[in-house]
Amino acid sequence: MKSIHIDYEMAEATLAEADARAGEADAAVAKLYEKDMAFTGWVDYAAHFPEDELSRIERTAAEIAGKCDAFVVIGIGGSYLGARAALSFIDRPDSKKPGAWPEVFFAGFNVSGTYHQRLLDKLEGRDVCVIVISKSGGTLEPSVAFLTLKNYLYNKYGQAGAHERIYAITDAKSGKLKAEADANGYASFVLPSDIGGRYSVLSPVGLLPLAAAGLDIRQMLSGAASAEEPGLVAAAKRFACVRAVLEGQKTVETVSFFDPSVEDFTAWVLQLFGESEGKDGRGVFPAPVGISRDLHSLGQFLQEGRQIFYETLLFVEDPTADITIEGADAGDYAGRSYSEFARAVLEGMAKAHRGVDIPIIRVYIPDNSAYSFGQLVYVFELTCAVTGLLMGVDPFNQPGVEAYKKGMLDYLAQT
Ligand code: PA5
Repeated sequence: MKSIHIDYEMAEATLAEADARAGEADAAVAKLYEKDMAFTGWVDYAAHFPEDELSRIERTAAEIAGKCDAFVVIGIGGSYLGARAALSFIDRPDSKKPGAWPEVFFAGFNVSGTYHQRLLDKLEGRDVCVIVISKSGGTLEPSVAFLTLKNYLYNKYGQAGAHERIYAITDAKSGKLKAEADANGYASFVLPSDIGGRYSVLSPVGLLPLAAAGLDIRQMLSGAASAEEPGLVAAAKRFACVRAVLEGQKTVETVSFFDPSVEDFTAWVLQLFGESEGKDGRGVFPAPVGISRDLHSLGQFLQEGRQIFYETLLFVEDPTADITIEGADAGDYAGRSYSEFARAVLEGMAKAHRGVDIPIIRVYIPDNSAYSFGQLVYVFELTCAVTGLLMGVDPFNQPGVEAYKKGMLDYLAQT
């Protein structure tokens, strides 16, 4: 199997400074693998995923797929971004067959009545299930969306029928969702207490909805396990060292996707990097860029604007489908394919940006398989955790997010 590889185009001095931190990165990885700090359960979870849990996920997913033609995943942040990223990224061999798998909708990540009304309208006439995901079990946005969807299910299937269509993923012991799942008998799964939301896509949080949508979750876990091999761990360590050095030089990291199938993965990366590293006055602001789309808007700023950023480019080397240009009017483009054009955009952009000394990190993703997705997730999780440790922050907490959650609940209590 081909693996992810990462190339660097930047000043030799920057790379030398990064390589001088290799020993620190080794120590950080050792600390993670020894689980010498809280919330490090993810480091070996995918590679040693309990078989009985995996089989139960697959059985429950088959039950969901047999029961409905649409299901809604309710969650915010780490409770939905990973599943959405995988659904957009991974190919399903039979995805062309209409109705082969239930359609997946997401809710609970905004507080828009318009969004949720439109969602209810789309569900009209469909057979519906709901997967509600919240580690804490009390986050406002998913709680409100769950109340809305639960009411919809009650009206449609009655209380007992609705309860058979609700699946919960939450903490093993605490929280409102856990108590409700127990009281109402929802089929439920546990997000282990030592895995935080943004590191949870390779747990039931991502695996249940993805299996119910027809994706090969075993391949995904194999890809993640492959990333624990020394070669990819070394790649993640160097990626982390380079990012830690660039943190001293720049304030923005553009995370660019060339293929739209990677756009939702980019959103997952923004959460991972932003929430893990942006604290104690540290971190680099991660900003998404869609190529070629944004080259015709932000491209001007990147080339000639204030040089506050470095670039991380996400490029799929062997995309699922390619189309060759044909037809009487094809002219100079005749016989050329989209993958050639994508390569031309990548090289053209890199040449232009090299010319103005923008540091560039190229992440080459082999293909759109579930295996590559699992590998990609793990490489980014490890890179992020090691970068955070090199920067001296705790990559697993999110006190700033908790502050907004509290402020919002305080406001509601006072009004
Ligand atoms: O990474 C994290 O832990 C957070 O982004 C959470 O995923 C997010 O805040 C949602 O929290 P919860 O799953 O408790 O509703």
